Amino acid sequence: MYPPKKIIKRLNFIFMRKIAVLFVCLGNICRSPMAEGIFNTIIARDGLDHRFEVDSAGLLNFHQGEMADSRMRLHAAQRGYSLDTRSRQILKSDLDRFDLILVMDEQNYEGLHRMAVVPSQFAKIHRMTDYCVNVQATHVPDPYYGGDQGFENVIDLLEDTCEGLLAELKKLL
Ligand code: 4NP
Repeated sequence: MYPPKKIIKRLNFIFMRKIAVLFVCLGNICRSPMAEGIFNTIIARDGLDHRFEVDSAGLLNFHQGEMADSRMRLHAAQRGYSLDTRSRQILKSDLDRFDLILVMDEQNYEGLHRMAVVPSQFAKIHRMTDYCVNVQATHVPDPYYGGDQGFENVIDLLEDTCEGLLAELKKLL
């Protein structure tokens, strides 16, 4: 499924190197911090946190340095997740630093594609919904201008897709 699979596998074999995963959305205050929180929770559950480096970033710098949106934190807390990240804008160097970059929607996908220059960078950019297991979705909808249900939907989609993502990445360990 991943073009860089052979490379990651070889590097892991040689160095027991961590797999670096970056979640990306627009503002880095709702969807991508939630994805980061869920993914961190499930790798810890499976005793694999030492095998991953996990981070999130946004295409915009509007919320630079802010904590995750209070509504996202509230809905996260109701499901047992504590979000303690601060928003940061994605850097060009992230396209080299991370092995896999997961975007939430087509706007994010296009934004990342505008930043990528070389084939190895393009190959790292994947849609979060490529990893759906039980849900069916083409993107993780932006909840920012909506109500409670939008935030619940984000968590539903990300819990499912994070499980799918981890199942794929376990094949590389
Ligand atoms: P996110 O949600 O991309 O999931 O963090 C948004 C947060 C802020 C804005 C848009 C989306 N905004 O326009 O400020």
